[in-house]
Amino acid sequence: MDVLEAIEKRRSVRVYQDKPIPEEKLRKILEAARLAPSARNSQDYQLVVVKNEKMRKKIASEATSESFIGAAPVIIAAVALDPEFIMPGGIPAHPVDIAIAVDHMTLVAVEEGLGSCWIGAFKQGRIKEILGIPDRYRVVVLLSLGYPVKSPGRKLRKPLKAIISYDCFSK
Ligand SMILES: Cc1cc2nc3c(=O)[nH]c(=O)nc-3n(C[C@H](O)[C@H](O)[C@H](O)COP(=O)(O)O)c2cc1C
Repeated sequence: MDVLEAIEKRRSVRVYQDKPIPEEKLRKILEAARLAPSARNSQDYQLVVVKNEKMRKKIASEATSESFIGAAPVIIAAVALDPEFIMPGGIPAHPVDIAIAVDHMTLVAVEEGLGSCWIGAFKQGRIKEILGIPDRYRVVVLLSLGYPVKSPGRKLRKPLKAIISYDCFSK
């Protein structure tokens, strides 16, 4: 599968089969995160891979209203270790770095026949308590991973001309 095909196929999967993810598939997905670029090449994050069923259910019921993630065999919490670093352009690096790593994982997941869903709707304090994450760090996103029950339909996207301009900004 080429990259564009994986990008086209990736959908947010919110219903998962009750089937574990083989270790080698998970390894490949995590390797895609490891190879992602990051500001200063710092890779200042930790990916907490939650496979334990009790922990997953706890996260689903206590740390988010997205209860469907409890049925996913793996939840990954992407934790920024240096959330204070601001790039010269005035933008914090950590959500950018983590978004790239997570997106890499979602694409390799597609290639491996798996589905995923980004979760931004979670309680920062509660997820830190459940996973034992020190307060100075910041959980940026959760990612659920598993075999899809069905592949959701294609989502609408804006046409290219609505998001691209050439040479000068135009609005
Ligand atoms: C940063 C981010 C946060 C998101 N948070 C949630 C969420 O909390 N719950 C959810 O069900 N979907 C969440 N999504 C999934 C989006 O709703 C979804 O990507 C978007 O509707 C496009 O659909 P698609 O992923 O199927 O192409 C999130 C996506 C991103 C990129």
